[in-house]
Amino acid sequence: MALNNIGIVGAGQMGCGIAHVSSLAGYKVQIYDLDPDRVQAALATINGTLSRLVSGGKISEKERNDALSKISGSADVNDLAAMDIVIEAATEDESVKRKIYAHVCPVLKPEALLATNTSSLSITRLASATDRPERFMGIHFMNPVPVMKLVELVRGIATDEPTFRAAKEFVASLDKAVTVSEDFPAFIVNRILLPMINEAIYTLYEGVGSVDAIDTAMRLGANHPMGPLQLADFIGLDTCLSIMQVLYDGLADSKYRPCPLLVKYVEAGWLGRKSGRGFYDYRGDVPVPTR
Ligand code: CAA
Repeated sequence: MALNNIGIVGAGQMGCGIAHVSSLAGYKVQIYDLDPDRVQAALATINGTLSRLVSGGKISEKERNDALSKISGSADVNDLAAMDIVIEAATEDESVKRKIYAHVCPVLKPEALLATNTSSLSITRLASATDRPERFMGIHFMNPVPVMKLVELVRGIATDEPTFRAAKEFVASLDKAVTVSEDFPAFIVNRILLPMINEAIYTLYEGVGSVDAIDTAMRLGANHPMGPLQLADFIGLDTCLSIMQVLYDGLADSKYRPCPLLVKYVEAGWLGRKSGRGFYDYRGDVPVPTR
């Protein structure tokens, strides 16, 4: 199963990252988003991240231009018709994803694969909302996609072997390492990472330490590249909350209870870096802790 044309649904930070690495690996990429402004913003973002690689001496000007020439973007779903695989990288909300599949599936070639970049939702349940459960699976990239080496692969109950093999070869061709997870809430990385982040938020909520104390503790005391609250802002607090909710609902164990402070920040619209404020305020020159 040759995958040459890669469709990406959702022009957010994950969609941009997947487009970046796929185009550099020589694939033709079509980004689709309902909002044409988001599509244009995504193309500018990818231009920026590729240019950063040129200035860092990681790729040549020609490689950047070749990669950029392989990426198109549009707000017309029909532009996905020629894709060999479409990777949905929309917001972590099951109803949004279901609407997308209803919209996208009728346009796809019958043999095309459909994948989701979900970080927590059931692949089997999402597959049931498509017309091709055998050719549907989870391909979960980590953020920032160009930097992080790992991709989790998750089969649904119906995913067939050729689909899994094609996805594995595609990920290997991006020079990423694969880990395979069974289809359980939040898979492997987020099953472990998000309770750690949630615990950091409880540590803040209970007044054990300030934002700075907690992040410094984990950066210098556990050698994490980012403190857990900085990482939460980086992932997006809305995404963190939805992953905790999936763990809490799916595993019915109180240890996954989302911290009320996380809920409050999300209700305030303080979603982290992308909204300018979360556990840090990003609106000035340097991030300032909000607590
Ligand atoms: N896009 C592309 N490249 C980026 C980037 C981005 N958003 N952010 C940083 N980089 C690159 C930089 O260009 C730099 O490259 P060079 O070494 O070639 O110069 C390199 O990454 C290091 O960046 P910096 O020196 O600016 O900063 P840093 O050393 O602090 O590293 C980091 C930044 C790589 C993000 C690091 O802090 C880190 O690894 N943080 C943890 C990230 C993490 O845990 N991600 C997983 C999140 S969980 C997830 O994704 C699953 C989910 O579903 C929620």
